[in-house]
Amino acid sequence: MILAIETSCDETSVAVLNEATICSNVLFSQIKHHQKHGGVVPELASRLHAEHIDTVLKRALDDASITLSDLTHVAVTVGPGLEGALLVGITAANALAQSLSIPLVPVNHLHGHVYAALASGDMIFPSLICLASGGHTMIIYMTGPLQFELIANTMDDACGECFDKVARMLGLPYPGGPHIERLANDGRPTIDFPHPVKHQANAFSFSGLKTAVMTKVATGDYDSADIAASAQHRIASVLAHKLQLSLHSLPVNQLILCGGVFANAYIRQYLCDALPIKNTLIPAPKLCTDNAAMIGLAAHHYIADGRAKDAYLSCHPQLGLSFPGAQ
Ligand code: KG4
Ligand code: ZN
Repeated sequence: MILAIETSCDETSVAVLNEATICSNVLFSQIKHHQKHGGVVPELASRLHAEHIDTVLKRALDDASITLSDLTHVAVTVGPGLEGALLVGITAANALAQSLSIPLVPVNHLHGHVYAALASGDMIFPSLICLASGGHTMIIYMTGPLQFELIANTMDDACGECFDKVARMLGLPYPGGPHIERLANDGRPTIDFPHPVKHQANAFSFSGLKTAVMTKVATGDYDSADIAASAQHRIASVLAHKLQLSLHSLPVNQLILCGGVFANAYIRQYLCDALPIKNTLIPAPKLCTDNAAMIGLAAHHYIADGRAKDAYLSCHPQLGLSFPGAQ
């Protein structure tokens, strides 16, 4: 029985897993508190995590119909993320594990996004993963459980960040992704936004798309829905093209799409249609965006790999794709 805690950004989430089965996954979203500031305010995020973690934890135990004494491990996101926000989850995990005399599992948030796919089916290796979230845009190659190799990364903005910035330019609230998706349904992808570093297999770039939208909006002559549809279409085609490049050079048995951006139905469908891989795992939208169940799913594999710890955990805000403490 794993208790998993996720507080790396603006969602306070606690889940209970019995091995790889999700028994509960409770989430308190801070979005409405950050919305009036146009984005996540780190200090506010830390304070809200501290205020809500007890209630979220209690509900996660109640929903799973267990008590603290049933737990065997406490897993927690230790990075990457906002330092103060991460520290709230890590402190709670350290205290729980200490008082219950059970081991801790320090989980990389990015591994959590990848392992969210496990809720949709088994992983078949080698697998090619596209992780697109508010902070990251990566293509990852996995040859076995927990064997991550970084194939492509963003040179500037992340894909979700691009959604958020385009939304802001169109006067839509934070986080922009779901609002752009909704508005795009009323528009047509008529604007040919740029596709930078098109032939570079190991790099994404989204800042040019953001600038192109800004330039268009500055003319005053535009249709918001067409901009939303065109930006969403360009992001989908960039992700598809980059995955195609990797598929040309690597043997792949399965495609995994994960991270908040893949909550987007248009992008999910576009990639499924565009790519020649039949075996595709995409987490349900609620498991694409940040949640603690994905941390528990990764933790299940960390434990099997001997990665549980008895010592206090520390914070790794700048963590890349490696294991915490290994970089
Ligand atoms: O994975 P996530 O919840 O948090 C990070 O680890 O960053 O991803 C959040 C990002 C935000 O940028 C948000 O705008 C984007 O995912 N997002 C979407 C959609 N839902 C969330 N982007 C496009 N379409 C969506 N429906
Ligand atoms: Zn995330």
